[in-house]
Amino acid sequence: MTSQVRGVQLARLLGQWHALPGRRRSPDYAALAGAIRGLLADGRLPLGVRLPAERELAQALKISRTTVTAAYRQLRESGHLASRRGAGSWTMLPGNHRVTSTGLWTPVDDVDTIDLGVAALAAPPELVPAARAATEDLPRYLSGAGYHPTGIVELREAVARGYTDRGLPTSPDQIMVTSGTQHALDLVLRLALSPGAGVLVESPTYPNALAALAARRARIATHGLASDGAGWDADLLLGSIRQGRPKLAYLIPEFQNPTGHLMAGDLRERVVAAAHAAGTDLVVDESFVSLPLDGTPVPPPVATFDRHSRVISIGGMSKPYWGGLRIGWVRASAPQVQRLAAARVGVDMASPVLDQLVAVHLLAEASGIVADRRAQLTVQRDALLGALAERLPDWRVTVPRGGVTLWAELDGPISSALARATEEVGVRLAPGPRFGLDGTLERFLRLPFTLPAAELVEAVGRIAAVRYDLDRAARPQWREPAVIA
Ligand SMILES: Cc1ncc(COP(=O)(O)O)c(C=O)c1O
Repeated sequence: MTSQVRGVQLARLLGQWHALPGRRRSPDYAALAGAIRGLLADGRLPLGVRLPAERELAQALKISRTTVTAAYRQLRESGHLASRRGAGSWTMLPGNHRVTSTGLWTPVDDVDTIDLGVAALAAPPELVPAARAATEDLPRYLSGAGYHPTGIVELREAVARGYTDRGLPTSPDQIMVTSGTQHALDLVLRLALSPGAGVLVESPTYPNALAALAARRARIATHGLASDGAGWDADLLLGSIRQGRPKLAYLIPEFQNPTGHLMAGDLRERVVAAAHAAGTDLVVDESFVSLPLDGTPVPPPVATFDRHSRVISIGGMSKPYWGGLRIGWVRASAPQVQRLAAARVGVDMASPVLDQLVAVHLLAEASGIVADRRAQLTVQRDALLGALAERLPDWRVTVPRGGVTLWAELDGPISSALARATEEVGVRLAPGPRFGLDGTLERFLRLPFTLPAAELVEAVGRIAAVRYDLDRAARPQWREPAVIA
């Protein structure tokens, strides 16, 4: 699934490479090699892609071919490029560095620790009344065996109505209820992927999706998102699908975790068309779709543009309501839902009836509950942004227009070191490399705004306090494992 980046595409990614800091002292070829290394380290340029031929890049950058030749030579020498005569040059990291596991760690119950590793809100006040009402409903189900592999019909109806209200007509037999979005993803992957199949994901992306893909032995390729601006580079994304022809692409188009980006409507349409032409299935994770902030309009669901059952949408209750409910779903064609349900019987049979009834009651009050969540998230996001501007003014952040996380660009490749240091002052962080595949993304940090504003401000104060003596500090080890969600 090797894909190639063209000269004009790389030139666009490189931007003002000749004017980068420190540039004046280094020759052109070294500056170019440094800029390419920077793109690799930030995950903008994936590992294992073929770079343009020297002549092509020279033309695109309007520089001499000898400069590109010398830059590529330096990249080969530093272990960032592998070349074979006649076959081209591929990006890599020195020593074939790869993070070996995206594995799940167990949580700690340390009340003094501010946990910024998990991006999820505490339960809303409506949860307990909904649970009480659900127990009242339960007798209606008790005369049956209680196994509903696709979910109880009233929840499937409520979820289907949600899609229809978003402009995507959906019937209840197109919905399967799962035990969370993660479960939905795992089931879809079980059905759609054979071991070794190629999968395209965004970089950075949601770490537990990488874990699910690793469990299915997928061959993962990445599309690097810009930390600012539009996020997705349409040309590169469509090129990766057309050239790489992955079996499946996993995308988070609404308020992407971790960057917060929102994919524009026209790109959604083009991605679906490219996926259809390439024979690629699209798995669209809509975990954050109901959480736009600042009145940001959300484009139509990706599945709106699907005429060939290429798009499988997954979503759930965890982000707008509560992760502890463990209710998610898949929206697909009715035959696909039947196949998923058959696969699910071999896994967990069905989701708990009582929890599904709680979800029905919460969805009946969706507009009020979700409006309150959005108001809460707006206050918390603004408190976090304010604290960052005051205490860590060298960090660059793009204001997320929805979702629950922001993706900070740090003042150096310090994310993992910072996460180790903040453990000492009671702040748990999810460092940038956790959101990538290959040890890149050290200049980035995901910061969720799901905790109360005062805790976020306190956490930023503690982070700032350790940031400035990081270089002098000894390197403490992770003391305890943590869940990232
Ligand atoms: C993009 C994305 N998908 C899936 C999940 C998991 O959701 P659930 O709790 O519904 O399994 C999360 C949780 O953080 C997420 O951010």
